Amino acid sequence: MRTSAEAIGGLALVVGAIAFLIFIGVEAALLYSAWRYRASRVAGPAPQIHGNTRLEIAWTAIPLVVLAVVFVLMVGTMREIGATASANGPAAMRIVARGHQWWWEFRYPDASGEIVTANELHIPSNTAVDLELVAADVVHSFWVPELGGKTDMIPGKTNHLRLYADHAGVYRGQCAEFCGIEHAWMRISVVAESAGDFQRWLAGQAAARAAPGGTAAEGERVFLQNVCASCHAVRGTDAKAVAGPDLTHLASRRTLAAGVLPNDTASLRAWLFDPQRYKPGSLMPRVPLSDADLDALVSYLGSLR
Ligand code: CUA
Repeated sequence: MRTSAEAIGGLALVVGAIAFLIFIGVEAALLYSAWRYRASRVAGPAPQIHGNTRLEIAWTAIPLVVLAVVFVLMVGTMREIGATASANGPAAMRIVARGHQWWWEFRYPDASGEIVTANELHIPSNTAVDLELVAADVVHSFWVPELGGKTDMIPGKTNHLRLYADHAGVYRGQCAEFCGIEHAWMRISVVAESAGDFQRWLAGQAAARAAPGGTAAEGERVFLQNVCASCHAVRGTDAKAVAGPDLTHLASRRTLAAGVLPNDTASLRAWLFDPQRYKPGSLMPRVPLSDADLDALVSYLGSLR
């Protein structure tokens, strides 16, 4: 049985081929007419024609037939995707994905312990998982082309999307519904891993933050005493806000700010120094910190593995 991505890719090829044939026909007619009726071959003004019933029926009927064919192919593909989703058995796990301006929140209600992460969705490979798609503010759309079709996230409504990765790997995705100025920087990484790796990841994420020492401990003080803690949570501390991404295991993620920057020390420092430079319009403000405090904060956040 084909995967959802293969079914959608096959449909795109067929529709693309139909569109290409129409393009060739239209261009050929255009070039032929331009040559056949060029000025040097036509004497005087062109004849004025009023109405042509046969032509009008033809140019109404042909698009109707073409669109009917595309519609039938599309409904067939949608049914196939539905059948593929149920053929992989009942979902082994539910994950709640919430779209925010402009990042993704992922919660694992079926796992033991509280697991909240952002922008990087871990799933077991060769296992069906059910995403419950919700939105915190405006309409977003969850789209990871290799794993399936796109499905909107609508405030006040829960949509469902079955994901199935047939091999381990990192699958890239993107918000597919315009949701504000940073819509383009709303990227998704889906990390599909073997059952063992996935269980290890879950266990690591369920843990509270490891108590920091040295500069990192100083960084935790900076974090808790500044506005950081009014938007973010770090489990194991008093920071419990949910407006921004949960940072308990920030350093385990591959990117910052939903794909804007790689998650390394230099980028983390640059991002914290001036988030609006990298993601203008995002809710993450520039917090005036001394160099020493900023270094301590970077050291702390970098320790949150
Ligand atoms: Cu979220 Cu576009």
